[in-house]
Amino acid sequence: MADLVHLAIIMDGNGRWAKARFLPRTAGHLEGLKALKRCISGCISEGIRYLTVYCFSTENWKRPPDEVKYLMALFTNKIYGEIKTLNSLGVSVRLLGNTSNLPPEAVKNLKKAEEETKDNDKITLQLAINYGGYDEIERAVNSLIRDGYKEIDASLIRSRFDNPDIPPVDFIVRSAGEMRLSNFLLFDSAYAELGFYDKLFPDWDEQMIHQIKEDYYKRIRKFGGLA
Ligand code: IPE
Ligand code: IPE
Ligand code: MG
Repeated sequence: MADLVHLAIIMDGNGRWAKARFLPRTAGHLEGLKALKRCISGCISEGIRYLTVYCFSTENWKRPPDEVKYLMALFTNKIYGEIKTLNSLGVSVRLLGNTSNLPPEAVKNLKKAEEETKDNDKITLQLAINYGGYDEIERAVNSLIRDGYKEIDASLIRSRFDNPDIPPVDFIVRSAGEMRLSNFLLFDSAYAELGFYDKLFPDWDEQMIHQIKEDYYKRIRKFGGLA
């Protein structure tokens, strides 16, 4: 069985976690951030080299303005605020998604986080913010059109993604019981394994990552060939 090199998490259920406690949805997002820290530690312990997390989709702008504002503030302040911790853990941050319509202050701080963690080599944390699978493919194809390509193939499209050096995802997992991709990693998910877990994201911890790794090793990946 191949190694679990690249894990991706659709961090879902923050709102339900808060609702169950009679708290505002935003409290769930803050708790989700704490869970993410535990997951990063878990991934480091399990030797996972790349972790991609779905933080905000191109569809999440449909949420109430106050919730969107709160999430943008999280991306602007909290992630950069964790820079010391990220450096001490050896986390290298990479941004994935369309930065053109994010608040400039958020983009500035996220790029600063990328720059200030770029030499860390324990794990690469890819933050999918204002990410959409359709948008990723559209931006890549448009950049090829601008360069005058008349014919393209899959590897050429992928070469124009935000972080083409990051290997395709091996295992996409989603919390909170929903069984769909919600426009996440449409292209790179072609042969990824998928896993769905009932536990709400704010309740995830290191043990959950251990469980996920065990589940992955039970999968038989054939890529169209034979086992
Ligand atoms: C995921 O949790 C976080 C984001 C989409 C930003 P949700 O906010 O979708 O939580 P539920 O699905 O409403 O419980
Ligand atoms: C997907 O979750 C996006 C993120 C986790 C950031 P959603 O909660 O937005 O997805 P749907 O609307 O249930 O498909
Ligand atoms: Mg949700």
